[in-house]
Amino acid sequence: MERLPDGARLERGPGGLERLVLSASDGEAIVTLQGAHVAHFQPKGEKPVLWMSSQSRFESGKPIRGGVPICFPWFGPKAGAPDAPLHGFARILPWSVAAVTRGSDGSLRAAFDLTADAAARGGFPHELALSLTVRVGRNLWLDLAVHNTDAAPRAFEAALHSYFAVSDVRQARIRGLEGTPYVDKTAGMALKPGASEPITIAAETDRVYLGATGAVTIEDPGWRRRIVVAKVGSSTTVVWNPWIAKAKAMPDFGDDEWSGMVCVETANAMDDAVTLAPGATHVMTATLEVQAG
Ligand code: BG6
Repeated sequence: MERLPDGARLERGPGGLERLVLSASDGEAIVTLQGAHVAHFQPKGEKPVLWMSSQSRFESGKPIRGGVPICFPWFGPKAGAPDAPLHGFARILPWSVAAVTRGSDGSLRAAFDLTADAAARGGFPHELALSLTVRVGRNLWLDLAVHNTDAAPRAFEAALHSYFAVSDVRQARIRGLEGTPYVDKTAGMALKPGASEPITIAAETDRVYLGATGAVTIEDPGWRRRIVVAKVGSSTTVVWNPWIAKAKAMPDFGDDEWSGMVCVETANAMDDAVTLAPGATHVMTATLEVQAG
């Protein structure tokens, strides 16, 4: 790769994992090359937008707890393969940096690849190639492109499993999924009708909203801000908070950290899995924006 533009640097982060720091004019992001995992995003003058557990492992081949893990090519456990890694292999394999450029508006754009060859070298022979493009300025733009290199149609699930930092999840309201049906993972995968009210979190919450193509807003009165998650090419939104017992049970999640986060994931999962024709490319985009209010 050519010389990095001003504001971009490669360095070793926690656990010695290589990461790309993108210090743009209006915001900063950090992307760990393992998983092309956005570990940090902060517009200038704002608190961090993404949550990261103080207990996260930063170890080669292990998932990072927080930021934006990329789930691919399956979401959750792989059907019929209990030993396969949860949420797929993309988040635990090394990606490569393809290009980093600086825009005239002072934003920085970086592209990362996980080729079918690299997946095979990592022990996961596969026919789909991925690339993630990250653009950071006042907002964060994430484009996940999946390309079918095979001669046969191929299906996949994917998620930009975004962990958001909130002042207190019990005070937050999540708008934009009213009336949308969801699979409730805390109730034996029961399909439930969407409520007419915005979502509030008062217990373990693990919901896969299907046919959910619209933007979602996380209202955080404690920090007087709204996080808007807009998307294109995504039909699933996942909302997750582990609450007390599950947080305690996860070794890489602080016992009391559950109140400071909520996941709102831009995805294509379960009935919304994507089938790609030979040679075709699918792009899923998420845009994260902070507004006052
Ligand atoms: C969510 C799933 O997307 O991710 C939950 O819906 C899961 O069921 C959570 O517990 C965290 O998954 P992991 O593999 O990162 O612990």
